[in-house]
Amino acid sequence: MKVKKRKIKKKVIYIFIALIIVIIGSIAIKNHIDYINSNYYKLNQVGYNDEEIETIEKLSEKQIDIILSKKYDKKIVSFLKQKYFIFDNLDKYLEYTKEFEDRKISDVVALVNVLANEEHYDEEIVKPTDTSKGILMLVNKYNYLTNEYAPDDIEEISNYYSYAGNSIKKEVYDHYKDMWNAAKKEDLSLIVTSSYRSYEIQSNLWESRSESFGDEAADASTARAGYSEHQSGLALDIVTYNVTMNEFINTDEFKWLQKNAYKYGFILRYPENKTEITGYDYESWHYRYVGIEVATKIHELDITFDEYYAYFIK
Ligand code: DAL
Ligand code: ZN
Repeated sequence: MKVKKRKIKKKVIYIFIALIIVIIGSIAIKNHIDYINSNYYKLNQVGYNDEEIETIEKLSEKQIDIILSKKYDKKIVSFLKQKYFIFDNLDKYLEYTKEFEDRKISDVVALVNVLANEEHYDEEIVKPTDTSKGILMLVNKYNYLTNEYAPDDIEEISNYYSYAGNSIKKEVYDHYKDMWNAAKKEDLSLIVTSSYRSYEIQSNLWESRSESFGDEAADASTARAGYSEHQSGLALDIVTYNVTMNEFINTDEFKWLQKNAYKYGFILRYPENKTEITGYDYESWHYRYVGIEVATKIHELDITFDEYYAYFIK
């Protein structure tokens, strides 16, 4: 009787041990399967190291799958770390870098983000401006206003603030007046020399520049019809008395605008050394109204409106 009992006890212990082994084994197998299916393992198999994987794993699952579908490329991680990296542009960044190996990676991101890797006015690239963005609409060499577009709240600017014959959107005018008054308090005189320009006026302007100086020189300083911010009623050319536009850069008024324009919602639209991004030579006189909030952000980030639009608005 005692022997039989002992045998049963032994059997129970064996079954228990076997059960533990099965459980531990299944956990180990499950862990291994999970590991093989993990992004870490897959990325590691493609060739990425721990540090690179940490960066890639911040992306969404869908984006990680796209990275996994590509061959190992250490440039991918360099792009991911860029401040203004846009995932949808990844292939274009890689393509551009292949062609222009010596370009700084931050420049490649900026250029591709604003489409500056494409030809200006390329028919396959240009799009009508999304005017639903209101004061934040983008008009440049890739985004155009149709010949029918004209702002509906244009007001004539008083000769007090402007040379004769200028008009602008009401909101822009109100903020310009505030800016003008603030400058006046410091004995500085701002004056508008160009403002809203219709499609036709812009067309004539470009044609006459092109006739005088050739297409290339005209394009460096003047937008083609439909492609000018002046048609949006959101841009003002501002100078002071007794200087040409090119001399404006040397005035106290210009220095004041550099420090203060954003407080009234204006940004210098075509800054120095940004020609590749904006498509235009430096224009110390051309100010674009974007509202105080966005102007302040652009001022702080020290980027062009084209870059801001690509990253924060589009
Ligand atoms: N001068 C600026 C670029 C224009 O023509 O709109
Ligand atoms: Zn202008």
